[in-house]
Amino acid sequence: MSEAPGTMMAWTKVHDTEDGFELIEHPVPSPAPGEVLVKTASTSICGTDVHIWLWDEWSRDEVPLGTITGHETCGEVVALGEGVSSHKIGDQVAIECHLACWNCPRCDEGNAHICENGSIFGVHDNGAFAPYFTIPATNARHTPDGLDSVHGSIQDPLGNAIHTLTGGPVRGATIAIHGLGPIGLFAVNAAKAMGASKVIAIDWDNKYRMGLAEKLGADLVLGKGDNIIETILSETDGRGVDNTCEFSGSPVALANAIRSTRMGGYLNVLSVYGNSTPEVPMNDLVFRYLHLKGINGRKMWSTWDTMHDLLSSGAIDVDSIVTHRLGISEFQKGMELTRSGLCGKVVLDF
Ligand SMILES: NC(=O)c1ccc[n+]([C@@H]2O[C@H](COP(=O)([O-])OP(=O)(O)OC[C@H]3O[C@@H](n4cnc5c(N)ncnc54)[C@H](O)[C@@H]3O)[C@@H](O)[C@H]2O)c1
Ligand SMILES: [Zn+2]
Ligand SMILES: [Zn+2]
Repeated sequence: MSEAPGTMMAWTKVHDTEDGFELIEHPVPSPAPGEVLVKTASTSICGTDVHIWLWDEWSRDEVPLGTITGHETCGEVVALGEGVSSHKIGDQVAIECHLACWNCPRCDEGNAHICENGSIFGVHDNGAFAPYFTIPATNARHTPDGLDSVHGSIQDPLGNAIHTLTGGPVRGATIAIHGLGPIGLFAVNAAKAMGASKVIAIDWDNKYRMGLAEKLGADLVLGKGDNIIETILSETDGRGVDNTCEFSGSPVALANAIRSTRMGGYLNVLSVYGNSTPEVPMNDLVFRYLHLKGINGRKMWSTWDTMHDLLSSGAIDVDSIVTHRLGISEFQKGMELTRSGLCGKVVLDF
């Protein structure tokens, strides 16, 4: 059915060391029942990929050696597994990397992104730093008509940003975005597109990204030279913002976020912390009556629906946030660039 070759070269984590990737030969996988085979168009580099490249403690626990990683991806369906009627050959798809069982209490209540039996494509099993991959058809989301392929691979981090933002009010709301990595930048842009009344963007010392946030519509950009809490309070009539999103992974930012969200406001945290027990000004959180929410992945499928509406209307300036497009052969350069922070999103094209 497919015209895919028998073998392919794919970036594979093979050594128990920093970097530790090699471009090695694998068979092109065959789609199992319920799966599709996708020919990769673009795969973007996520902070998670850098953790795996660096081979930190988390990666050593989670990623089996020999795995082809890469999970932020899109492409064209080139073969169908038995029983797949939702897709046809030639369909353009973007991938939801959270693989769910669809048959546990979390899946039943509409929270398949935290499925009790879930796993992550390109982390726990082979992913998309490869020219072909297989994926359950359900996870291969049709992309809006006429969308540029690069806009496909960034739907995972854009979805993270939208899921975090929509943990609180957005239209007409004052919003603070802490941490201007690619996800924070998407959030700044999406918040403006979704009608926030004021968006305050905060990084520490990354001038490159602070400049991008300004270009993407932030009303005010703050950094380490500013009194962050006082400025946010004075910009919001002394109240604090309605909705704070934490994307930095810095305990300092988390404490600032708690102290500059309004009474009864919303604090949504997507970040992963190097130290998973940071000091938190707990009494401020309690007496400010904050709604604190941890965010993981994307809601399946309401986040995707919101994102596709925004992408179809042209409201998201993907081209400004994707600062670098490299060929897949420049995988190592892409990793170094992402690690340096002198970039927005880095996309690898096939
Ligand atoms: N929960 C999930 O499902 C999920 C998914 C993807 C990513 N993440 C996490 O989300 C976070 C954002 O990802 P990313 O790739 O955009 O991040 P990134 O690491 O590229 O960017 C973080 C930014 O925060 C800035 N920063 C550092 N200290 C700061 C401070 N005190 N105040 C404000 N900004 C500060 C840095 O300069 C940097 O620009 C990461 O922690 C990542 O691990 C979580
Ligand atoms: Zn990712
Ligand atoms: Zn489940």
